[in-house]
Amino acid sequence: MTVADLFVDLRSDTVTRPTAGMREAMANAEVGDDVYGEDPTVNALEAEVAALFGHEAALFAPSGSMANQIALQLLVSPGDELLCDADAHVVTYEIGAAAAYGGISSRTWPAVGADIDPEVVAGMIRPDGYFAVPTRAIAVEQTHNRGGGGVIPLATLRDLRGVADEAGVALHCDGARIWHAHVADGVPLIEYGRLFDTLSVCLSKGLGAPVGSLVVGSADKIERARTIRKRMGGGMRQAGVLAAAGRYALAQHIDRLADDHAKAARLAEAVAPFGVLATTVRTNLVALDLTKHTLDARALAAAARAEGVLISVLGPRTARLVTHLGVSDADIDRALAVLPRILANA
Ligand SMILES: Cc1ncc(COP(=O)(O)O)c(C=O)c1O
Repeated sequence: MTVADLFVDLRSDTVTRPTAGMREAMANAEVGDDVYGEDPTVNALEAEVAALFGHEAALFAPSGSMANQIALQLLVSPGDELLCDADAHVVTYEIGAAAAYGGISSRTWPAVGADIDPEVVAGMIRPDGYFAVPTRAIAVEQTHNRGGGGVIPLATLRDLRGVADEAGVALHCDGARIWHAHVADGVPLIEYGRLFDTLSVCLSKGLGAPVGSLVVGSADKIERARTIRKRMGGGMRQAGVLAAAGRYALAQHIDRLADDHAKAARLAEAVAPFGVLATTVRTNLVALDLTKHTLDARALAAAARAEGVLISVLGPRTARLVTHLGVSDADIDRALAVLPRILANA
């Protein structure tokens, strides 16, 4: 028995397990030593993802965190500065990696999820000079994890590109869930791709692959990225087994994200009357704000768990529900029989 057999698991879209079709693709993958550049399945995946985003090259990495950190090291030299929001994954959940590995100084704008004001960002940029830390890059998150799966509008991204160009700084996208933004807003991936100097994109979240992310960028950047990845211990050998899962996910699991969004909308609709929705739900994440309730996030999670539903605790009074490949309509029915009842007494 696994967690997935016992519970409706709404903690994260990282808990998915490979489907039968994906496992078959993995089992049949052609492989070689990728550190020698000889794994045909990894090479095919990298070419495919680069083309999807209209960039010259891409590099397969073991995790989204490593893909982000490789990109940041490409864009920001030690002692120089990255700007991002206070809730960004890169400064919240990557355990200080930008500072620890890249010597990067990070400065944040207040957490506003996907509702970024490009003028606020423009006002934070510090130019070169001996007296201040020069800003070299801006990072945004599409969709925004702690921002409840919010989607940054294309117009905002275009304005941010203008801000970056004006200041001569780079723009990075933590696109762990960029697929969800593409499905929710109908913006072609290539349209997103052309706005950024680098992107990191994850195969192991909503797309359902067990492992893997890619850094996307120009050929010269990705060449340097290969060295940084190796330095960080991320050079993998017969990684084609994993890349095959990623290729399968790209072919089979992008369009179906609309189902996950619809399931998240059902959850949101059922909990909304209890005043707990932190943001409007656009994709597969439902952020809960319990500041006006007697029950805190831990207590809510414990009560839900006791009735077979797992949710994430993101802070003392913030919690999160996530839909994904492993959550069926029947699972949503089960969650809906539990969560509103608990919230009614919260
Ligand atoms: C927005 C975002 N970026 C990056 C990551 C990092 O991915 P990984 O867990 O593969 O390191 C995550 C993980 O949940 C994420 O939500």
